[in-house]
Amino acid sequence: MENLITSNLENKYYIETFGCQMNVHESEKVAGILVSLGYEETKERAQAKIIVFNTCCIRDTAEKKIFGNIGELKILKRLDKSRIIVIFGCMTQQEGMAELVASKFPFVDIILGTSNVHLLADKIKELEERRARKRGKVIDIDTNERPAVIEDVVPYRTSYPNAWVNIMYGCNNFCSYCIVPYVRGRERSRNPELILEEINALLKAGYKEITLLGQNVDSYGSDRNDGVNFYTLLNKIAQIDTKFRLRFMTSHPKDLSEEVIKLIAETPNFCNNIHLPVQAGSNAVLKAMNRRYDRDRYFYLIDLIKKYMPDCGVTSDIMVGFPGETEEDFLDTLDLVKKVRYHNAFTFIYSPRKGTVAAKMEQIPYAIKSERIKRLIALQNQITLEISETYVGKIKEVLVEDAPKEGYLCGRTDCGRLVNFKGNKEMVGQFVNVKIEKNKASALIGEIVNEC
Ligand code: 5AD
Ligand code: SF4
Repeated sequence: MENLITSNLENKYYIETFGCQMNVHESEKVAGILVSLGYEETKERAQAKIIVFNTCCIRDTAEKKIFGNIGELKILKRLDKSRIIVIFGCMTQQEGMAELVASKFPFVDIILGTSNVHLLADKIKELEERRARKRGKVIDIDTNERPAVIEDVVPYRTSYPNAWVNIMYGCNNFCSYCIVPYVRGRERSRNPELILEEINALLKAGYKEITLLGQNVDSYGSDRNDGVNFYTLLNKIAQIDTKFRLRFMTSHPKDLSEEVIKLIAETPNFCNNIHLPVQAGSNAVLKAMNRRYDRDRYFYLIDLIKKYMPDCGVTSDIMVGFPGETEEDFLDTLDLVKKVRYHNAFTFIYSPRKGTVAAKMEQIPYAIKSERIKRLIALQNQITLEISETYVGKIKEVLVEDAPKEGYLCGRTDCGRLVNFKGNKEMVGQFVNVKIEKNKASALIGEIVNEC
């Protein structure tokens, strides 16, 4: 076995990504660096000379899973000591974590943070020099809260026909439960001209969907002094004269504006799909979370969205079990979910994160959290099912995104609903009209009626 593995190790890399879309895209940038060094992707850890973990620390469950996965690498390292194991991203950026990872997992070679992974090529070189002198690993965590925006890494994209495009990095909001502002630093917005150049180049290269990424896209531009903001950026993107789909995430209810909602409604290329995390339905909990909006403001936005886009697919992130959440507070969340009727919602059990304000508050028992999340999921599943029923019999334009198995395709409607249907894999990247025939658990099932 040893020979088999070592003989294949030459120039393969394996990347495992934990966490959000921002991380997925950052892994594409790391892949870009490794491809430029002559490495090729493998989906098998055991075949890889370089194994990279892009980590997440948003909840304790993520961190536990990553620790388990790093532990599993020990045996692979033992089989071939020339292997390079790289751990980077949000988890390692936490205070004391890089040292903990290094001492718990001595076989890890390179540990980087969230904002210096673009230096990976140099770090690999440094590691090789150190190895020649038997001088161990490379650890480099940049603790600057406002690191420079790096523009010269060319991502190796893996999500055709969608392309992720960062518009900003970091977050200034400090929601009291959230670790992100501590591990990703303050908001830094990219130059709008470079964003537009990137989008135009992607469309020219054949990408059909662009998803703009930022922790709070609505505050895009507020750290710049050239007068740009999210609306002006979207307005420029709205002028692009090619058929494609634009999505973006994440919008913040304290900042989403009527002019942005109106522009989405008026621009055919902009999807009628807004991810607008509410987090909780109780004013007291929203206040303790430092979300800086209340139920009324949230309902005001939902009414605006429904006024301009009656069919808009609104999705959300919702948390249960925040410190101090009473049964009445939780019932307010259920009530809000019933009134808004989300197309879909990501639901989470609150997880205390060291260093955040909420971690120091009095916590509520896990049994209560776990019982609440079950009720929330049951309610949202019922609503998702009822909304899906309204699709049956309708013809929807779908962008073919993938061919999960021979003869089968999947894609999404403009509002973001997943649809499965038959077709051949050459159709990935095309817009097709699909007649929705049934509604099955998490996806709609349909049949292509014609290509668009
Ligand atoms: N515990 C549970 N969920 C969290 N999120 C952020 N921080 C925590 C936490 N400490 C959720 C929020 C956010 C989503 C990305 O993750 O709902 O919108
Ligand atoms: Fe975290 Fe709040 Fe920033 Fe989102 S807006 S990343 S939830 S602090």
